[in-house]
Amino acid sequence: MMDNLTAIILAAGKGARMKSKRAKVLHHVNGWPILRHVLRATIELAPSRFLVVVGIGNGAQAVRKEFSEWPVEFIEQREQLGTGHAVSQAYGHVSGDFLLIVPGDLPLLTSQVLSCLISHHNEQGADLAVLSMIPATPGAYGRLKRDTSGHPVKIVEERDATDEEFDIAEVNSGIYCVRNDEFLWLALRSLDAGNAQGEYYLTDLVEHYHHAGKHVTAIKAADPQQVMGVNSRSELAVADRSMRLRKVGELMASGVTIVDPESAYIEPDVKIGPDTVILPGTHLSGGTTVGSNCTLGPETWINASQVEDEVGIRYSVIESARVRTGTTIGPYSHLRPGADVGPAARIGNFVEVKAARLRRGVKAGHLTYLGDSDVGENVNIGAGTITCNYDGKAKHRTVIKDGAFIGSNTSIVAPVTIGERAIIGAGSTITEDVPSEALAIGRARQVNKRKKEEVE
Ligand code: UD1
Ligand code: CA
Repeated sequence: MMDNLTAIILAAGKGARMKSKRAKVLHHVNGWPILRHVLRATIELAPSRFLVVVGIGNGAQAVRKEFSEWPVEFIEQREQLGTGHAVSQAYGHVSGDFLLIVPGDLPLLTSQVLSCLISHHNEQGADLAVLSMIPATPGAYGRLKRDTSGHPVKIVEERDATDEEFDIAEVNSGIYCVRNDEFLWLALRSLDAGNAQGEYYLTDLVEHYHHAGKHVTAIKAADPQQVMGVNSRSELAVADRSMRLRKVGELMASGVTIVDPESAYIEPDVKIGPDTVILPGTHLSGGTTVGSNCTLGPETWINASQVEDEVGIRYSVIESARVRTGTTIGPYSHLRPGADVGPAARIGNFVEVKAARLRRGVKAGHLTYLGDSDVGENVNIGAGTITCNYDGKAKHRTVIKDGAFIGSNTSIVAPVTIGERAIIGAGSTITEDVPSEALAIGRARQVNKRKKEEVE
């Protein structure tokens, strides 16, 4: 733990350029709210205090709610008067020798780039260290001005820049490491809002420190992408793509085949074992884990699920479910919460499974609904089998024991138990328990009548 470091994340801004009712930091990048990426990178440094500056109102409430489980302290900025004003709200909440200030809108942030700035600050014995970068184009970032000997003297916002300043390639990432002392808090209090946006700019600290003869340094981020800010929907899309490709790159490096990296949507906390193949249009989210030698996709969506080894899933939706080793799913199947299937089971076309344990070797090949059920080993479920689990008031369980054979188009009205190796005739409606080894037929007997004219 860095016991002399307070981290301050700025997340109170209105995010006006997003044109959204939702707080900017709650917009998603590769499946996670932007702020979650920022918190994840920062928490790796284990700061002794971890503050998040938020606004007031519904947007801010939603931010607090989303991150209520995180070990962060929320600080209120009642009016969004600028980044300098936002930091000044942390007065009285900080401790330790120095502060790490991070904008909440940098979803591609890594802990490495933050560590780099902190080391630089320490090595230089700086009062204020700025993390800068040289992106492909300086865009709307604040320009970092250095004097002839290379010392940072000022950050000028794009809107306030002269033509000459506008062309400066080195820009401000918005991340700073600053000594936590009297000078800082006085400097924040003395900021003025005489600029294009009428805001109290944190960036003005650079000029203030420089004039006071304080030690100001700036270090360039090796990879400007890692400190890219998101202000608009198009930047959101750019960040989203980068974040996806970063994850996919890590997976490929660890031995996963991704057939078309651009069309794999894999959230940061998903784990996949080696020699698994991901086909186009596969979405993996919610901490899903996948074993090795699986083939997932094309066009498959898996959320908050455990997929073991040697599983094949195509054109299917899997949510909060478990798919055990050697099982195949799809095309066009839906495993809903509480489905637990396999090992070596076969779920085929248009099959829905919910809150059901389907054991080793179960086959449900076609057009079936299995809900609230316990299906034993090697049970064969014929096409069109339906567990009627709901009587309009409550859900009831169906138990089908090992080796049973359910004929096609069977309705099983729960609660009911079908014994081991029992056989159900096709088209049956089963309302009573079936003993082991029995053949149950629950349907009207077929009658063949002669045509009327023949009778006459
Ligand atoms: C800011 C910097 C700019 C830098 C860029 C890097 C200033 C004046 N400018 O510009 O030099 O290149 O970041 O991405 O600092 N926020 C608050 N309260 C406020 C205003 C903002 O908490 O009153 C938060 C926002 O939620 C956001 C962060 O501070 O997460 C940065 O604010 P934003 O308006 O996005 O600043 P930029 O215009 O991007
Ligand atoms: Ca920004």
